[in-house]
Amino acid sequence: MDRRLQSPSLSPAPTMASPLRSAAFSSLLALSLGAVGVGASSCGDSAADGEPTSGPVGPGTTGSGGGEGGQGGSTGEGGTSGETARDVFEASVQQGLMAECGACHQLQGAADAPFLAAPDVYVSVTTYPGVVVPNANQSVLVTRPADPGHGGGQAPNMSDALRAKVLPWLALEAARIPPNDSSTQFVTPFKPKLMGALNTIYLGDLDPTLENVSITFNAYELGQPPSMLVLENLEVHPIADMSLRVVHPLFTMYPDEGGDPVPDPADSYSGLDDLFEVTGRRKLGTGTLVHTAWQKDAYLGLAFELVEIVGGYIPPTDCLALAAFDSNAKPALNVCATQCHGGQNPQATGAMDLSKLATDGAKSCRQVRARIKPGQPAQSQILLVTNPLDLSAHVFKFQGSLTAYDTFKNQVTPWINAED
Ligand code: HEC
Repeated sequence: MDRRLQSPSLSPAPTMASPLRSAAFSSLLALSLGAVGVGASSCGDSAADGEPTSGPVGPGTTGSGGGEGGQGGSTGEGGTSGETARDVFEASVQQGLMAECGACHQLQGAADAPFLAAPDVYVSVTTYPGVVVPNANQSVLVTRPADPGHGGGQAPNMSDALRAKVLPWLALEAARIPPNDSSTQFVTPFKPKLMGALNTIYLGDLDPTLENVSITFNAYELGQPPSMLVLENLEVHPIADMSLRVVHPLFTMYPDEGGDPVPDPADSYSGLDDLFEVTGRRKLGTGTLVHTAWQKDAYLGLAFELVEIVGGYIPPTDCLALAAFDSNAKPALNVCATQCHGGQNPQATGAMDLSKLATDGAKSCRQVRARIKPGQPAQSQILLVTNPLDLSAHVFKFQGSLTAYDTFKNQVTPWINAED
């Protein structure tokens, strides 16, 4: 069948102008995952009786509706009025996390996962991928330590006492996740090839920069009549010279005869925020997903909270002042290359690739140029995010040393000005 994809719908308004439009798509209900989720304790069916719209189901619909579902976070523990989620974290959670997990999860800790990094532990932990999710029980903060493979089997599980404090706090965070339909990108629902056949979804129509980027999987049904759809070998295929960021893909079942779409009841990828490169790992999460509310002949939809190219692919411009870069900025940027941006941390390197700082000044300069405002040092990202006095979530801020920051600033400023 025609598996053309369509442009992202940036609003809930119907945009199904393709020939695929059919009864199956014209009467979709806006469902919140919290209401549909099989595992979640339903908070009243009325929650599911949303307004009829024709919009596809995207991860953004997990918003406030889903937050109150899964976990018993509404018991009020730590939720004293006027207290922010940060207050609760700092009063009842932070100390315990530092004691049990800090040795490995601070900056330069044994684990390469510094979600407890100074200077602002709350920012570090809440911005870490997979920590704040609609269902607190699925936060990596609780699931990873409980996995026997955590830290290669050497790392401990979380104590029951700490978990009893962590879960209510995470539930508070979950309830605050804003609905973000507008940032959701949809693939037009299609009927997957079954019996283990290979399916390929091209993402080019979501955004022109994603031309030739694809997601592949093998699909088969379970049950008679079919009640589950198994997707195996789920892989992401970027193309050369790009880092592709994929956030929270959500597979949804659209019944053949119309009726309510059912998003993946487990919301398997709710915590996924990952980078892919053509030379690297391809697997999407665990690589396997089982949609447990599948129906015979149903369509499969795929939505993303976000899928985008990060870093240098959107062709960075050549530097005008390469000599100034080489003599002034390059030595100063060495610290960035040795800490994270030189390849050690894929996310950081995807955002600004300094792996060739020593050998390819022109390439490195292009990468950094994409992170400055030529002629405006004060508006330049490299100086904003590394400022110890700035609140943005950037792992490295010169260990809080203003002196070191000022030195850096003085070294890169002449080059930033020369680029104008
Ligand atoms: C002895 C060192 C050690 C301690 C203590 C430790 N961890 Fe870990 N942790 C690791 C290592 C190593 C990894 C990376 C490998 C892995 O994912 O298992 C890791 C990975 C993780 C991840 C996954 C990070 C990612 O990349 O997504 C989470 C979440 C996590 N730990 C949470 C915790 C929590 C919560 C605690 C405290 C209860 C804790 N860890 C205590 C060593 C430790």
